[in-house]
Amino acid sequence: MAIPSPITPPPIPPTTQLRIDLADRGYDILIGCGLLDHADAVACGAASSEALIVTNTTVAPLYAERLRRVLAGHHARVHAIALPDGEAHKDWDTLNLIFDRLLGEAFDRKTVLYALGGGVIGDMTGFAAACYMRGVACVQVPTTLLAQVDSSVGGKTAINHPAGKNMIGAFHQPLRVIADLDTLDTLPDREISAGLAEVIKYGPIADDDFLGWIEQHIDALRARDKVALAYAVRRSCEIKAWVVGQDEREAGLRAILNFGHTFGHAIEAGLGFGTWLHGEAVGCGMVMAADLSVRCGLIDAAYATRIARLIERAGLPIRGPHLGAARYLELMRVDKKSESGQIRFVLIDAPGQASLHPADDALVAEVIEAHSV
Ligand code: NAD
Ligand code: GLY
Repeated sequence: MAIPSPITPPPIPPTTQLRIDLADRGYDILIGCGLLDHADAVACGAASSEALIVTNTTVAPLYAERLRRVLAGHHARVHAIALPDGEAHKDWDTLNLIFDRLLGEAFDRKTVLYALGGGVIGDMTGFAAACYMRGVACVQVPTTLLAQVDSSVGGKTAINHPAGKNMIGAFHQPLRVIADLDTLDTLPDREISAGLAEVIKYGPIADDDFLGWIEQHIDALRARDKVALAYAVRRSCEIKAWVVGQDEREAGLRAILNFGHTFGHAIEAGLGFGTWLHGEAVGCGMVMAADLSVRCGLIDAAYATRIARLIERAGLPIRGPHLGAARYLELMRVDKKSESGQIRFVLIDAPGQASLHPADDALVAEVIEAHSV
């Protein structure tokens, strides 16, 4: 019997592979368990190029060394930088730490940045990759549910400005997305709930059957059942890939992915970034946007109640903070969907369908008053 060679890499475990169809910027999304141990799944870019793993102080002790080891055979040198953790650090000063490191150690333009972490790390690393030497490659290795179902896919990168969420950024598609479901094992329960907000989002905007599936599996998802999580990540990424493949730069259709986000971003900015999690603010924002859809005569109240009930079952708040309607409106005008000061909301036109609509301030104020404590 032949002794297996120790240098033969183990086979990649069962993996779902999806494609983002964007001509020369197209790429694969790999979804599976145990992917982080497989160089064939993870390592990207030119052989013998340099790599910088960008992560944070929470994720680094959990996964950075594993990733560094698996990349070492492919890249000439692999370094890592651990940024301070949290939405409050998604800013210029923290972004600059990445540039300081890249320049301080003379990383060249073939360098590949690996974003190892949640959406904050993914958005900042993607933005750094878009800017460094006018653009280097980036690989997304999302380790939160929210990042696996949404932020790692589609090429939106950004930092926050005190006046508004994600207002400074660029489109920069990754080379690949590697969603290792095993990394979700170490995620706090509150973060699982926050990720479920973005999963739920895909139902009302694009796939009413998926909404029904989530209703049936919400308890399994919260309990981190791997089969349920694998399907939720896959279906979410399929829908996102379908949308981004048609409208990469949000000329129209892609805006539907922002269902609940206009209200949600106001909550995040109004309370100070990091007070509520992004997913919590989006969940509550979807309750408000669903009610606005009812008040605009688009859907019946029962559908909005169904959405709110599911958001609550996901462990998310369904009542917003009491900032006052005037403050919400002021914050919501600083939104990338606003045109000439007119706020535009993603509203549900029918179960599984959504589009952008303007709305009267008075009606919006009624919604805010009805759903804030
Ligand atoms: P996050 O990046 O702050 O991560 C949440 C927390 O979980 C952090 O404390 C993080 O350190 C920790 N963490 C990450 N992985 C972990 C793991 N495996 N085990 C234990 N702890 C872990 O938040 P998020 O919810 O992942 O992302 C939110 C961000 O994503 C927001 O800034 C939002 O604007 C952005 N976003 C971007 C897009 C896009 O299209 N680019 C889409 C949606 C959201
Ligand atoms: N999460 C919104 C988008 O990717 O467009």
